[in-house]
Amino acid sequence: MIGTVPPADPTAFIRARLPVLPVPAIPEIRLHKAIPTSRLATLADADEAGFGTPYWAYYWAGGLALARHVLDRPALVAGRRVLDLGAGSGLVAIAAARAGAASVIAAEVDRYAIAALRLNVAHNDARVVVAHQDLTPGAPPPVDLVLVGDLFYEQALAERVTAFLERCRAAGIDVLIGDPWRAWLPAARLRMLASYDVAETDSDVTRPSAVFAFDDAALG
Ligand SMILES: C[S@@+](CC[C@H](N)C(=O)[O-])C[C@H]1O[C@@H](n2cnc3c(N)ncnc32)[C@H](O)[C@@H]1O
Repeated sequence: MIGTVPPADPTAFIRARLPVLPVPAIPEIRLHKAIPTSRLATLADADEAGFGTPYWAYYWAGGLALARHVLDRPALVAGRRVLDLGAGSGLVAIAAARAGAASVIAAEVDRYAIAALRLNVAHNDARVVVAHQDLTPGAPPPVDLVLVGDLFYEQALAERVTAFLERCRAAGIDVLIGDPWRAWLPAARLRMLASYDVAETDSDVTRPSAVFAFDDAALG
């Protein structure tokens, strides 16, 4: 099977080469995850348009903290319309759906992440709408809560995301961020709600990753 997978088909590739594994400290959710034999480089080599960083194939500290937080405090999302901005594998979106959100949109710009998201959402039997779209330049979407897992790792992106979140807050939308204190986190605008020790993909070492309310959203 492995040798016959067409590398240009992300869905077939992920199904065949990235096993579905339990997420550390989040046993409620299982995701397709890259392992050494996945050979993501074959997917990258076959893509002349540019492969990008395969964030979708790994766990990230911000998402791990935010997903755990939401699963342990379902009242934060129950009955609410939720956007997971920069959903990656879909960990946070799936957690929100499991915790009882009325609806969940998982927004992503990477086409491989879209394939992984669709597979992970189906595998976890979650009700999540997958949107292949950059929402950051536009008006706030019709949601009650925006969840942001680990999206402050580059300056330009962090500035765009922060401006978008400001517009969301001005429209009355709550914002929760999960982040391991990365360089471009707008820390002065945040109120820390909780901190978790998490291990990112393939690391035996845990690091603190916090959950924050942005611009004093009234969230426990
Ligand atoms: C470090 S990963 C975090 C993924 C996930 N939130 C988590 O915590 O596991 C960041 C993700 O954001 C996506 N991304 C970057 N810019 C984006 C944008 N403007 N809109 C939507 N997704 C974006 C990337 O493709 C990547 O999958």
